[in-house]
Parts: sequence; structure tokens; C-alpha cells
Amino acid sequence: MMGHAQAVDDCNLGLGWLYYALTRIARPERVVCIGSWRGFVPIVLATALRENGNGGRLTFIDPSLVDDFWADPERTRQWFRSFELDNIEHHRLTTQQFVEGAMHLSLGPVGILFIDGYHTAEQARFDHEAFTPLLRDGSSVLFHDSIRPDTSLVYGEEKSYRHTVSLYIDELKRRPELQVMDFAVDSGVTLVRRVPNPADRVPRAAGQGLPSSLRRSK
Ligand SMILES: C[S@@+](CC[C@H](N)C(=O)[O-])C[C@H]1O[C@@H](n2cnc3c(N)ncnc32)[C@H](O)[C@@H]1O
Repeated sequence: MMGHAQAVDDCNLGLGWLYYALTRIARPERVVCIGSWRGFVPIVLATALRENGNGGRLTFIDPSLVDDFWADPERTRQWFRSFELDNIEHHRLTTQQFVEGAMHLSLGPVGILFIDGYHTAEQARFDHEAFTPLLRDGSSVLFHDSIRPDTSLVYGEEKSYRHTVSLYIDELKRRPELQVMDFAVDSGVTLVRRVPNPADRVPRAAGQGLPSSLRRSK
């Protein structure tokens, strides 16, 4: 329902496959997810963390501003437990409140940051920059609702607002130190990673990594 191209009929996670695969590939110890309607993204990410088997944990930040779905800590725990997940720490706070006092800096390196909170360019920038000190080479940042401006009624008609995350993404695309890839499916998601430092690349012997049939004979 919330723009990740999921389908119940054929048990298709849609963009969730991407979130799951990135988490299984990177095996992060810490993932942060900002904002979620009913938990699709934190559930997919935390399931992948559990299946990695290395104790990875997910920090979920959501002040429950749409309705009271995330308001009661015990109900939230039960909801995640019903998906056999006990590796999610929910904070009923805005990102602004969460990072006040810089306690978040003690979370340790963040392997995946998923940004799906308030969808203005200003808030997307705030969410991104608040966690940038915790990102490392190889960390992935995903922005949801990121490929086009749109009008959201999620907080009610009287509080309708413009999604402008795509304007922040346009800005990131102009930064040479970043790799930025849009997945223009449903509401869309954009993957942002730091360009790997060429000095960190292991030099390859000529032809290494190619099938033997393609290697040039001497
Ligand atoms: C429902 S989700 C997905 C957004 C949706 N696609 C839309 O149209 O806006 C947005 C979530 O972000 C949370 N949220 C809003 N402002 C936030 C903030 N400043 N920090 C963290 N989460 C926030 C809300 O509580 C909500 O659950």
C-alpha cells in the first residue's frame, strides 16, 4: 500500500527484495530506519539481520505522527514479535529529538540508513546529515518516495504537503563523491553510497576474475 511495489497475490516483496538483499550482502551490525507506515521496511530489514546470524540490530525512529500505531511500546514490541523479530529498538521520537544531545553517535557504524520519515527536501537532508558521521565506506543510504514530487495526504487533507525528497536527491547527484541510483518503481527508492576510495582497491593481476576462455594468452 505504501509505495514499495509489494504484492500479496504472488508473495512479492517488490522493492523489499532490494532492502533484504542489501542487508544480507552487507551483514551490517547496525541498521537505522526513519519512519514507517505499518513496519514493512523495518520488518524486511530486521528479518534479513536476523537471518545474517551475527547479532545485527535495527534502530527504528518514528514519532507515530500519522496515527497511534507506534504509540504503545508493548503493542509495538508485540507487532514485531508476531514476525519473530526481537532485534528492533523503537524510539517514539522525531529524528530531531533522537539526535538531540548526540546520543545517537554512540550507536556505532551504521551499515544501512533507510529514510522514510517526513518527505520534504529539508527533512530528508536533516535525516541524512544527522547520521552521516556514522556512515562508513560501503554503507548504503536509501531514500523512499524519492523519484518525483508528489502531494501526500497521509496526515489528513488539512495537513496535505508536497513530497520534495527528489529535489534533495538532485542535489546529491551533483556531488562527485557520491554514487546515486534511482529505482523508479512505484513510489521509488534511491540508493546513495560513497564512491569507493580508489586507493582502497586491491590491484588485480591482468585477467584475474575473467573466465579462462576470455583471458588473453601470453
Ligand atoms: C507513513 S510513513 C511514509 C510516508 C508516506 N509515504 C507519505 O506520504 O508521507 C512516514 C512516517 O514518518 C514519521 N515521521 C514524520 N516526521 C518525522 C520526523 N521528523 N522524524 C522521524 N519520523 C517522522 C511519521 O510518524 C510516519 O509514520
